Amino acid sequence: MGAQESRYRKVFVMIYFVTSNKGKFLEANAIFGDLIQKDIGYTEIQADTLEEVAAFGMREVAERLQGPVMLEDAGLFVEALSGFPGVYSAYVQKTIGNRGILRSMEGVENRRAYFRSVVAYIEPGMELQMFRGEVHGKIGTEERGTKGFGYDPIFYINEISLAEMDLSEKNEISHRASSMKALKRWLDENRN
Ligand code: IMP
Repeated sequence: MGAQESRYRKVFVMIYFVTSNKGKFLEANAIFGDLIQKDIGYTEIQADTLEEVAAFGMREVAERLQGPVMLEDAGLFVEALSGFPGVYSAYVQKTIGNRGILRSMEGVENRRAYFRSVVAYIEPGMELQMFRGEVHGKIGTEERGTKGFGYDPIFYINEISLAEMDLSEKNEISHRASSMKALKRWLDENRN
């Protein structure tokens, strides 16, 4: 393979990760190593599932970016709140935030909650692929930790919040790590 050809190939196999969220990007890139962040924005529809949101967004970005593209939609699902905020997680984080969630959980005994991540991937000539990951834990009674982002300070696993974990620790267990690792396995099996 000539130098020109190998350079082309390397450029082609690099994946665009469409996200404005630096934390998400760092977590995903710790798994893939060679992602390119594209903060180009896309329509996040209001839908019943993360899969629908991701698929709709992907249709939009795949037209704008030529080459392998991934995007991810995630949500926090609280059992005692019947799965809320779920697909509304971004809006709820922006409006009432972690304190609002803690307030709505005051006096609630069942603190069980989970994060779900859906990553969507497409490249020219291939069908859309989607992979899901989950992590189960509890909503704490206070915000703890300064690492991570979003709901991390109130989401606890074995008494430790995700915001108290290093990125590498979060990547051992997180919803995003599971969905991203599933995509990576698929790519290793399905691409040259
Ligand atoms: P989206 O996937 O960017 O739409 O995420 C929805 C909301 O959930 C945003 O407010 C994110 O900050 C939050 N979120 C997504 N993933 C995580 C995570 O790994 N930890 C904490 N919050 C998250």
